[in-house]
Order: sequence, then structure tokens, then C-alpha cells
Amino acid sequence: MLRFFIMLFFITNTVAGLSYYIQRTWVKNEKVQNQTLRVQKGSDVMDGEYPYVILIAGITPFKELYRVASGSLITDTWVLTSAHIFSNRGVHANNTLVVWFGKFTESPFITNQYSEVLDIVLHPAFRDMPFISYELFYGINDIALLRVNKINLPVYGKLSPVDHTTLIGLSTIYVGGGETDKLGTDLYRALQVGHGMVIKCGAPVNKWSPYLLCVTPPCPEKKHIPIIGDSGSPFLVDGKIVGTFSVRYFTFTHVSWTAFSPVDLYLDWINEVITPRVY
Ligand SMILES: *[C@@H]1O[C@H](CO)[C@@H](O)[C@H](O)[C@H]1NC(C)=O
Ligand SMILES: *[C@@H]1O[C@H](CO)[C@@H](O)[C@H](O)[C@H]1NC(C)=O
Repeated sequence: MLRFFIMLFFITNTVAGLSYYIQRTWVKNEKVQNQTLRVQKGSDVMDGEYPYVILIAGITPFKELYRVASGSLITDTWVLTSAHIFSNRGVHANNTLVVWFGKFTESPFITNQYSEVLDIVLHPAFRDMPFISYELFYGINDIALLRVNKINLPVYGKLSPVDHTTLIGLSTIYVGGGETDKLGTDLYRALQVGHGMVIKCGAPVNKWSPYLLCVTPPCPEKKHIPIIGDSGSPFLVDGKIVGTFSVRYFTFTHVSWTAFSPVDLYLDWINEVITPRVY
């Protein structure tokens, strides 16, 4: 029996290993399904609608740009995202990681709306492992902060202090701009937004981390097509960030889980990292 596991590590199309394998597997099946490689049932976001939602992108020594993942600017110098994005950091070794903001339908080299990633701060209790099987897998405290040069925006993402256990049953939206399998013109496309309801995660996701929360689409669907490459993107309730997109699991035959790391658990750590210190 085939089971498809999606971990949204999104690096480049040339990466070997788990994320690559999973992406290939999914893309192959996705082509059969003839769906789009976007936020599921998502719609395009207008420029400036969620100005604090950014893309993490790589720039090669040949000045080629590629999308890596998503995140949220929570101050003018700090981005909140997911930690697993950097588990495979070596693939970017020769490249420069940047935060691309503002307009995604045009090259940031033209708009000049990008800023180099200066520091990557993973949560100290973040742990994951290379995927062997879904029974063995785990990925816990999947949260990270990136420091960038100052980015002036009209508004930054606001973190929700609400206890994550009280989010169950609430409607949420998620905004992301993950990598797709397409090259060329598809590099420049709008962010997408999707809607869902917060639920408890079931097996196997609840065994990978006790903290993750899941999101179910507004209408039950037999085939729930994953969003791809949106790792680190925000889940919002009442306009505030309640979590960052961590992991996606689905099978064609039954369940599918889209899981996020709830931010309320990490507020103290976030504040500690982003608060300027006087030495
Ligand atoms: C696949 O999707 C495209 C674009 O939406 C559509 O034009 C085409 O008819 C679809 N093909 C099949 C076999 O459903
Ligand atoms: C980085 O560049 C070096 C020297 O050209 C090369 O050997 C290495 O494979 C490159 N690493 C990656 C991850 O592309």
C-alpha cells in the first residue's frame, strides 16, 4: 500500500534526500491529479494585503533566485519561521539566503525588496530527524527566528498570546508562497491564502510532536492536496499569528494533516531573542 508523506522542507529542486524524494513523489502524483501546486483551494493575495508575510529565498553565485520557504516579519529586523527549513542548510552553502518582501510578482532585484539573512536562531529545543518512516519520525519545537537588516513596513505580524489549546474549532487563515515545481516565470507569483478550522492532530502527526495543531479545510474533501513549500508561513486567527506551518502529512486513501507549531508556547523565547540587549 502506498502512503505519501509530505514534509515541507523546501530547498531547491536539486537537493537529494528526503525532502527531494518527497517532493518528487508528490509532484508525480500531483500531475496525475492535475491540481495546482499552491495553497490548496487558495486564492492570490494582493500586494500589500499581508505585508509582513515574506519569502525566504536563496541567491546563487550566478545571481539565480529560488524560493525556500515563508515567514512573517514580527519586527523591522526579525522574521518568525520554522526551524526544519534549516535542517538541510548545507544545500545553501554557496548561496546567500535573503528575506524577500513586498512584491512577489516581480524580481526583488528590480524592486530592491530583499534583505540578507544575518542570523538564523533555531529554538534550542528544536529536534527532528531524517525521515525513515512515519512511525519513527519526529519533529518538535519547529520554530526559528531570522535576523535581517532593517525592513520598514506599514505593519508587522502580531503574535497571538492565546493559549493554543483554546484555538480548537476556530477558523484560521494561512498565507504562504512556497516553492513549486515550475521554473521560470512561476518564480514571480503572488502569495496565496487558504482557510480552515483548527483541530487536534491525529496519528501519526500527534506522535511526532505533542504540541502541533492541525487545520482542516472548510469543506470535507476526499482528496486533500497539500500546499507545498509554505513552511514557516503564518496561521492567523483574528489577524494575529497563532502558529507557523510545520508539517504536512497525507495519504490518498484516508487522512491528511496540515500542522502548525503554536506560537504561544514560544513567546518567552521569542521575546528574549528579539529584545535588544545592552552589554
Ligand atoms: C488540467 O488543468 C488545466 C488547467 O486548469 C485544464 O485546462 C485541463 O483541462 C486539465 N486537464 C485535465 C485532464 O483535467
Ligand atoms: C559549493 O561549492 C564547492 C566549490 O565549487 C562545491 O564543491 C560544492 O559542492 C558546493 N556545494 C553545494 C552545496 O553546492
